[in-house]
Amino acid sequence: MSFQIPRGTQDILPGEAEKWQYIEQMARDICRRYNYQEIRTPIFEHTELFLRSVGDTTDIVQKEMYTFEDRGGRSITLRPEGTAAVVRSFVENKMYGTPNQPVKLYYMGPMFRYERPQAGRFRQFVQFGVEALGSSDPAIDAEVIALAMELYHSLGLKKLKLVMNSLGDAPSRKAHRQALIDHFKGRISEFCEDCQSRLEKNPMRILDCKKDRDHELMETAPSILDYLNDESRLYFEKVQLYLTKLGIAFEVDPRLVRGLDYYNHTAFEIMSEAEGFGAITTLCGGGRYNGLVQEIGGPETPGIGFALSIERLLAALAAEGITLPVAQGIDCFIVALGEKAKDESVILVNKLRQSGMKVERDYQDRKVKAQLKAADRLESAYVAILGDDELEKQVIAIKNMATGEQTEVSLHSFVQYMKTAVESK
Ligand code: HAM
Repeated sequence: MSFQIPRGTQDILPGEAEKWQYIEQMARDICRRYNYQEIRTPIFEHTELFLRSVGDTTDIVQKEMYTFEDRGGRSITLRPEGTAAVVRSFVENKMYGTPNQPVKLYYMGPMFRYERPQAGRFRQFVQFGVEALGSSDPAIDAEVIALAMELYHSLGLKKLKLVMNSLGDAPSRKAHRQALIDHFKGRISEFCEDCQSRLEKNPMRILDCKKDRDHELMETAPSILDYLNDESRLYFEKVQLYLTKLGIAFEVDPRLVRGLDYYNHTAFEIMSEAEGFGAITTLCGGGRYNGLVQEIGGPETPGIGFALSIERLLAALAAEGITLPVAQGIDCFIVALGEKAKDESVILVNKLRQSGMKVERDYQDRKVKAQLKAADRLESAYVAILGDDELEKQVIAIKNMATGEQTEVSLHSFVQYMKTAVESK
């Protein structure tokens, strides 16, 4: 019997995993500078949380959740996204009461959606996301967007497009909602079943329908921007002004609605414009969700955030031909010949490692030539050769693989010699 990985998931093998670490490290460093702190929430939550937050008319809730009953009869769902859990934790831990406001959080971890797998679309994928809770200053909208853009830019991506929209506040949305119902009502029978059931419940979702996206009524649907009240319009203008001041280019697309229900005011997506990127071009999505904290049982608290997947980020890097500067190779390989030398090499590799170097030795009982080959394959910067003869004289031979230079140093000064050599590399 042989086993295969479940559809829509992937193994991240050595060689590839280093790229992930590099990106994760970069994201953590940017969050540190922007003063966002890490939060870790469980991989699964009570199903009800997602119904309440993501919205029961969304594709995520209707078609994509991994939901099961646990042995205690509770309905549990593998998290399809991170915002709901962060907000749940914010409320549960009364973070709204901490003196440092807004509360600025980030997270990184696997999310699960039962989607049709294709390039850039997985059933398990890793999101990096941030959430800023407790401020309705448009400057924080700009900050969150700038943070996402900075991650992409610092990894070398250039072919990006930031698209923004405002979904307005509750009164603006109410007016728009009625306009949408009036617009679609007469011909709703031409739309898919989902859209038909969404007409009264949540007509904005129709604009996000994948099946009916080419229907002529989509093109002429009323734009939310025409229904924004003064407050919402001014808010959106301020966000745009800040972005302009930060030198971040953007486009306004009144048809950008996002696939989750909790949004209002600012909504945005960052797309890759690299040639050959594939059909799914959204790298990052986010927006404001004033009202969500209250929906989850907390006090009225504004919030904004985004999430992006590392999978799509890597795909964008590949499409732009960018290779990450991940460290390969090791500092030193200790080749040992003879029983005593081998015993000694166990201690020597340990000493080098403890003083910070990346070091390897032979564990396959290989001959000298094969050990040298192994060192070569590992792209070792130095090879140290220890035979029983050298051991007797308490010396070790060292070869600099880049220059071919060879020296012999006393065993006693070996660690210090290697440290200096590796540091000055
Ligand atoms: P979302 O647009 O559903 O938003 O997902 C955000 C990002 O996650 C997408 O832009 C994409 O990079 C990635 N993503 C989504 N589905 C998949 C998939 N099946 N395979 C690979 N990558 C995927 C949210 O999740 C919101 N929680 C974002 C947010 C945070 N809004 C406010 N705060």
